[in-house]
Amino acid sequence: MNSGTQPSCADEDIDVSVQVGGIQMRTPVMTASGTFGYGPEYASLTDLERLGAIVVKGIAVHPTRGNPTARTCETSCGLLNAIGLPNPGVNGFVETYMPFLRQVDVPVIVNIWGKTVAEYEEVAHRLDDVQGVRGLEINVSCPNIKEGSALFGTDLDMFKRVTNAVRKTTNLTVIPKLAPNVSDIAAFAKAAEDSGADAISLINSIPALAIDVETRRPRLANGTGGLTGPAIKPIALKLVWEAASAVRIPVVGIGGIFTAEDAVEFLIAGASAVAVGTANFVNPRAAEEIADGIAGYMIRHGVKRVSDLVGSLKQ
Ligand SMILES: Cc1cc2nc3c(=O)[nH]c(=O)nc-3n(C[C@H](O)[C@H](O)[C@H](O)COP(=O)(O)O)c2cc1C
Repeated sequence: MNSGTQPSCADEDIDVSVQVGGIQMRTPVMTASGTFGYGPEYASLTDLERLGAIVVKGIAVHPTRGNPTARTCETSCGLLNAIGLPNPGVNGFVETYMPFLRQVDVPVIVNIWGKTVAEYEEVAHRLDDVQGVRGLEINVSCPNIKEGSALFGTDLDMFKRVTNAVRKTTNLTVIPKLAPNVSDIAAFAKAAEDSGADAISLINSIPALAIDVETRRPRLANGTGGLTGPAIKPIALKLVWEAASAVRIPVVGIGGIFTAEDAVEFLIAGASAVAVGTANFVNPRAAEEIADGIAGYMIRHGVKRVSDLVGSLKQ
């Protein structure tokens, strides 16, 4: 499916807008955290107001530098990264990036992380009344930092604790982002719903390793990293399908989405919206073009609303 030649999603006969946990979006295509900077980096490359939402890079209480380089390497069908969540800290983010983001007519969702439950609470608290912020995506699933985050995503009790804590701290839309490396994704999806989450997103990157055979060392300075891109799409699709079957709250599907057809697969599997990650590095207009391609698919198949596609998998 060549999304670039598809009809525009402004076509009158179809409605590509969606609601995700109370956030109204013009299209079902968001950007995935960590692959789109904080927004301004992409402003000259794509029309930010044609995105469903911008999900910014992970933000913590304090500024951090991230991992030493090499932080990324290509594998045969995916990208391996161990960036380690460098960030300007919540105050730095609000001062540096929110003045720009407030001028753009697009929902802003802030991806947050911490090393303790108290740190998650603190970031959520500080963002709660920041004008222009619509939602918080809770990153409990980054495989690339040594403390906290990854464990919150794989231990059900810790996952509930952090989700509950953020929920109680904020009135913003709360979207826990699930880790793929758990034995029962439905249990995590259900726990998010029971803890008051407005939606869930999945998947984060999959823990992985690449080795330089000349040096016999890992290709990333961190040792292991997180795999993203086309390699993970079928895994993500299955997990999204299982999670969406277990809950009533909206699901944001993430993982290897490069084309409109990829995105439509996620909608059929049960996602109410999708987020585009690694594809942004290849084509900065990917999210916009994928939204147009979804519109084209809907026209060709006589689908009037995105919600008519969601969860329409035939068995
Ligand atoms: C370079 C890079 C940085 C990322 N940073 C974050 C982050 O800060 N927070 C987060 O929750 N996910 C982060 N992710 C994960 C993505 O948001 C997404 O879940 C993952 O890349 C899978 O989607 P994709 O295959 O479309 O890239 C990052 C991914 C990449 C490739």
